[in-house]
Amino acid sequence: MKFLRILGVAAAVLMTSAMASQATRPQPATGPAPAPTAPTAAEATAGAATDAVAADATVAAIPAVVVAGPVVPGNAEAGATKAGACAACHGLDGNSADALYPKLAGQHEQYIRRQLKLFKSGERENAIMMGMSAALTEQDMRDIGAYYATKKATAGVADDTVIAAGPNADKKFYQVGEKIFRAGKPSAGVPACTACHGPTGRGNPGPSYPSLGGQHSAYTVARLQFFRDGGVWGKEANANVVMSQAVKGLTDEEIQGLATYVEGLHAANATAKSE
Ligand code: HEC
Ligand code: HEC
Repeated sequence: MKFLRILGVAAAVLMTSAMASQATRPQPATGPAPAPTAPTAAEATAGAATDAVAADATVAAIPAVVVAGPVVPGNAEAGATKAGACAACHGLDGNSADALYPKLAGQHEQYIRRQLKLFKSGERENAIMMGMSAALTEQDMRDIGAYYATKKATAGVADDTVIAAGPNADKKFYQVGEKIFRAGKPSAGVPACTACHGPTGRGNPGPSYPSLGGQHSAYTVARLQFFRDGGVWGKEANANVVMSQAVKGLTDEEIQGLATYVEGLHAANATAKSE
């Protein structure tokens, strides 16, 4: 009697573990559930050459493995491998040496994912990046984003050249930018950049406000001029008009000042003063 009870417990344990392994085994996305005796994919592969039924089971098992399941948050480790193709321009750790290419180090996963999607569809126009993103899946984009998010952007040096003439005469370039970055330009309806990009320019990963701190100023100038002139990334539901509205009233000189202030921004010294 006692022996039988022990046997019963052992059987229950065996059944539970069998069910658990069944649950974790990939199942075909559609079609009837396999019979309890269906071989696992590995067993089927082993017997495929001689057993036609097993071969069918292998084929049936493939879609469950290949069809991407629900997209999951990015995996930085997977992203590191996938970002190999990007290093030539953006640098191994996302700190590009050449100001032609934006730094991606420290950028947020969601922001990178959004931009890669927009490049792929042509909603953000750039021939190089359209090509580079063409083969990326949604999951690749997240993994790559997660990888760069783990890196730290190196800060540049803000330009402290004194402006000789005009409305900002006697001020340094970065001072013009610092003022607008922190307090906006109310007379032109420009909000403080800190409202969304934060005092150290780190942005906000949730609503996809990009990290700006340390970015090459030439890149930031080009983006700000594009937005100032009414440019918007994304079409219809994907369009984000926030920036084209925020920077409408900026002059080229103010944009220059903002971009150089941003390049010098980093967490250790939020004021980025170079004196
Ligand atoms: C041949 C050079 C080159 C390669 C290789 C390259 N990029 Fe780019 N990337 C650029 C340029 C140029 C831009 C700026 C585009 C613009 O002006 O809008 C850019 C912009 C980006 C941006 C937008 C950054 C921002 O701050 O908005 C992301 C994200 C990006 N690249 C990711 C990648 C990824 C991921 C790869 C690899 C799969 C990659 N790039 C490979 C040249 C390159
Ligand atoms: C209300 C929020 C908000 C404010 C205020 C704001 N931004 Fe932005 N900014 C965004 C968002 C959102 C994006 C990304 C847009 C997209 O993905 O289409 C962005 C993108 C940018 C980019 C492009 C970054 C890149 O890597 O390509 C720059 C540069 C920028 N902002 C600078 C500024 C500056 C300078 C100010 C202040 C004058 C400012 N922003 C004010 C929300 C804001």
